[in-house]
Amino acid sequence: MKTVRPVQGEREEIQLAYIEINGGRPLQGEISSSGAKNAALPIMAACLLARGDVVLRKVPRIADVLVMSEILRSLGVRIDSGSNGSMIINCDSIKTVRAPYELVGMMNASFDITGPLLARYREAEVPLPGGCNLGSRPVNFHLDGFRTLGAEVSSDHGYIKAKARALKGSTIDFPKTSVGATKNCMMAATLAEGTTILENAAREPEVVDLANFMIKMGAKISGAGTPVIQIDGVSELRGTEYEIIPDRIEAGTYLAAAAITGGDITLRKTNPDFIDSMLTRLTMANQEVTIGKDWVRVKGRRPIFSLEVTTAPYPGFPTDLQPLLASLLTIARGTSIVVETIFDRRFMYVDEMRRLGADIWVSDRTAVIRGVERLSGAPVKAPDIRAGGALLCAALSAEGESRISGLEFIDRGYEKIEEVLKTVGADIRRVNHDAHGN
Ligand code: EPZ
Repeated sequence: MKTVRPVQGEREEIQLAYIEINGGRPLQGEISSSGAKNAALPIMAACLLARGDVVLRKVPRIADVLVMSEILRSLGVRIDSGSNGSMIINCDSIKTVRAPYELVGMMNASFDITGPLLARYREAEVPLPGGCNLGSRPVNFHLDGFRTLGAEVSSDHGYIKAKARALKGSTIDFPKTSVGATKNCMMAATLAEGTTILENAAREPEVVDLANFMIKMGAKISGAGTPVIQIDGVSELRGTEYEIIPDRIEAGTYLAAAAITGGDITLRKTNPDFIDSMLTRLTMANQEVTIGKDWVRVKGRRPIFSLEVTTAPYPGFPTDLQPLLASLLTIARGTSIVVETIFDRRFMYVDEMRRLGADIWVSDRTAVIRGVERLSGAPVKAPDIRAGGALLCAALSAEGESRISGLEFIDRGYEKIEEVLKTVGADIRRVNHDAHGN
């Protein structure tokens, strides 16, 4: 990440940060999964619903968790983080329901605090999270859901203001499956009067994990993981202990790295069911996949077969793994077709992949990938979290040196990724220096 620090009376200093990789080495060994980013973030927000201490385990140590921690602290929440991914959260001394834009604007998941604030404190003032590199990230389904539960919702100077004398259970029928809206409305409904039904709800494992966490706090929720979720409102939720599920997108990233480098990686402490659609595609691409109870082993094989894949809400092929699979397909035998149906700017990585020698062309929501013999190392920049993972995978396979910048994105979603890759044989290091190499 480039930062310019004007120094009194001296030349401005530019700080450069990137990950340097010498590619072409097969990765070999074992990796243990981290906790899931997209479960930890809403679960941290859901702590706002409960009285008393919440103890969380396997919280990933990533930048997005730090942002969510600071947002909660800005509201008056007490958070003590342990070194081993444990965290104690107590929300009994909230001093405000207004979150600062400087923090909320750093990630879309910040908006997850709106439902819990509305449910427990009957009001919330949260800045619109705004767009990101994946395209516009509207929250209309969230707001319509809150209104259906009886809240008055308005926007004023970039802030969403939601208020309700009381939330009353109702039926919320989402016009389009939305992970965020399902989580936010499910959280809001836990303390509403009466029963709420969510129709066309998202079925992601992280939605189920959030539901299971809230059930442990005393919520009455059934149907999570299916398109219809029922929430029977209760008067209070109380703190509990909970372990976050393994991160399936991190899992798919490391398994793609095994395949693309022709390596042999066993991923431990994971849940193979969560990545079934990725494992199916790796098998179809002629990779050797072995599935255990809480582990998966991928041995890369050549040739890599080309594929046709279309992203879809869970249990379909996840949009978050689309860049990772695409990176593998850049060196497949033949031509692959990748269709992205969720985000309109999910192909931001393509130009950077081309710098590594990939032959990819995008038209609207479809990428055509003609497999090449080998990729060659180059300087590239990650435009978003998962694109960063994909560029790292491609660089691990490419011949020669690559430098991947945009670490502010990579560090949002991956815990110490260069250290993990080093343990399985990658020639990789993180570099920080000024423009003069110091
Ligand atoms: C979650 O984002 C994940 N983020 C994303 O992962 C993931 O890509 C996405 O779900 C899809 O699986 C977290 O869980 C923190 P959506 P979210 O609401 O909730 C449209 C990563 O790298 N939509 O399911 O924002 C929206 O524009 C991130 O970990 C509305 O139109 O996704 C999109 O086209 C990237 N109105 C589609 O629905 C709304 O009110 C799906 O979005 C909400 C969404």
